[in-house]
Amino acid sequence: MIYRFDDRFVIEGTQIAYVFDVDARGRLVHQYLGGRLHESDYAELPDARVLHSSFETPEGVAAYEFSSFGDLVYTEPTLKSETSGERLHAFTLQDAAIDGDTLAITLHDSLQRLTVTLTFNLYAAYDIIERKLTVRSEAATTLESVQSFSLGLIDRDMRLSHFSGLWTGEFQLQQGPLLPGKKTIESRRGLTSHQSNPWFALDDAATEETGEVVYGFLGHSGNWAIHFERDQFGFTQVTGGLNPFDFKKTLQPGESFTTPSAYIGYTQDGFGAMSRNAHDFERDVLMPEVTRETLRPVLYNSWEATYFDVSEDGQKRLVDEAAKIGCELFVVDDGWFGERHSDAAGLGDWHVNTTKFPNGLDPLIRYVENKGLQFGLWVEPEMVNPDSDLYRAHPDWIYHTNGRPSTTSRNQFVLNLALAEVEAHVTNLLDDLLSKHAIRYIKWDMNRAFSEPDSPHLGEAKELWLRHTEAVYRILDTLRAKHPGVAFESCAGGGGRIDLGVLSRVEQVWTSDNTDALDRLTIQEGFSYAYNAKMMSCWVTDAPNWLNARSLPLAYRFVSAMQGTLGIGGNLLEWSEDDLKESKRWIETYKSIRPLVQHGTSYRLASLKTDGFHAMGYTDGEDYVALVNADRRQYGKNKLRVKLAGLDPEKTYTYDGRALSGRYLMQQGITLTQQTDYDAFCLVIRPA
Ligand code: GLA
Repeated sequence: MIYRFDDRFVIEGTQIAYVFDVDARGRLVHQYLGGRLHESDYAELPDARVLHSSFETPEGVAAYEFSSFGDLVYTEPTLKSETSGERLHAFTLQDAAIDGDTLAITLHDSLQRLTVTLTFNLYAAYDIIERKLTVRSEAATTLESVQSFSLGLIDRDMRLSHFSGLWTGEFQLQQGPLLPGKKTIESRRGLTSHQSNPWFALDDAATEETGEVVYGFLGHSGNWAIHFERDQFGFTQVTGGLNPFDFKKTLQPGESFTTPSAYIGYTQDGFGAMSRNAHDFERDVLMPEVTRETLRPVLYNSWEATYFDVSEDGQKRLVDEAAKIGCELFVVDDGWFGERHSDAAGLGDWHVNTTKFPNGLDPLIRYVENKGLQFGLWVEPEMVNPDSDLYRAHPDWIYHTNGRPSTTSRNQFVLNLALAEVEAHVTNLLDDLLSKHAIRYIKWDMNRAFSEPDSPHLGEAKELWLRHTEAVYRILDTLRAKHPGVAFESCAGGGGRIDLGVLSRVEQVWTSDNTDALDRLTIQEGFSYAYNAKMMSCWVTDAPNWLNARSLPLAYRFVSAMQGTLGIGGNLLEWSEDDLKESKRWIETYKSIRPLVQHGTSYRLASLKTDGFHAMGYTDGEDYVALVNADRRQYGKNKLRVKLAGLDPEKTYTYDGRALSGRYLMQQGITLTQQTDYDAFCLVIRPA
């Protein structure tokens, strides 16, 4: 529900109330973000401005939902632009339209002759508000900073949660007090990044089950930034969107631009509820509609088994084993095209290597289909190796600057998708691939960040960051429209491109190249704060693991990988008969609990960091499964007590032949006996 009292606007969801005023200068002054009040209370809220001194803001220190450059406001502006040499603005409120769950506030700037529309879309059931900003210009305008949202928060001591990370170590949850000063999380790398992720949460002593949490996401896969600015009055400005660093967007007269969306959420029930609301919102609202109701298949991927050494025969032998243990989708990874025998050559030459596949891909695809599996393929279409026919033909198709050597990373360059001809080339080659072959799944990879971000052919090089991501989105949108039966996975050397922008275009993401089941638990736990289990691709791979040389029991590897969309990524040709039989049983078990994991509600039950073991619970409101990974066994101790969450306390459940109340299972919990290091358990609990 959205209300208006004079110049005060109220957005109200299930728990959230979000209140701001529009002042005479077109600034949106934050007033309240918290639990819902009575309707009449909103008009009574005191003005949040604090009058202090001429060195603060004489009109009052405040926090804003929109502010522009040039006022006595020094936090990150929501908009900074220049029109015919004019840098300042003179905004006034032009219109405020409430249409169901959408509020559109339109401001007009008489100096730069701009119209700005701030859109707030309320998703009341999830307590999430989508924010975006549209700028329309009457004259030629250069946008220097155009943010998806500004968010004012007042009178709160807050802790900030966000992710840091690295390749093979994504989603490391960082938590610490937000102190006076400025903190920015961002990417300047051209992609979402492993190092940081466009998600945050702010709380004051919330726990997993209790307390207020304000959180947010940005839906953008290129350069992004979120700034947190806290002052001495306890006012906090959070501003986020396209990274203003090295940014430019030019609008021609009459043109308009809409920012990527940001999503701001609120809960009174702690981090667990925050995650559950976000997961539901992602799955119900954002993710591709065609596959929303469909469970993700168990996939097999050949990367860790063969690396670049793929061939029709070798892949067929893997198909046999993958089919026997119950896989449903067979994905050929890197190495199938061009002269791709290592990472040093071939990217860009997207035709089948006929030494490896003498009759093309189709015989393998038919083989896969005859075994009852779908066929999927890996591509990395934004890249080119210097040693490729594409680069030899078009050396100027990469980001570069004349007179300076271009830097390779993983022996490759980034293609300049900001150029229309390069975008068209990539669109056509992928369209062709999907038109000619029965491909049901594309793993879209991107294995390096940008360097030499310049483009001699492009009028304004600073535009390339945004244009690249827009091109990637357009290509994905075109392919999805033309090939609606194809599912996509977003991969960038693991979890380098995971965000709510790409999520509306893909079914899955490759969480991390780290397939060590122990490391994965921490990565997956971090991931679960922001992102849902269905989108989270997880593989069971060989022991010892390629990364940490750790050998973990097969059961442990399965229980870890079953916490998302399960895949198998090991060399099955080298697995023992016993391991293959055990894998078949685990895959059957996974299929039986898959609706709970992929479409259910999840609960973080125990964490390696705080509890010494890891446990997740999943339920559809009736059935329940808990997946438990023990750590090393120490000092002869052998008991793990797993307290479940999310059951009906008054209901009776059966577990292991015993009848137990929901109350018992949540308060007393289930006591497990750990035999040795790295035991793992899959506990199925059903209503009696
Ligand atoms: C990236 C991906 C891997 C694999 C390789 C292939 O690292 O994350 O899963 O596809 O590329 O080169």
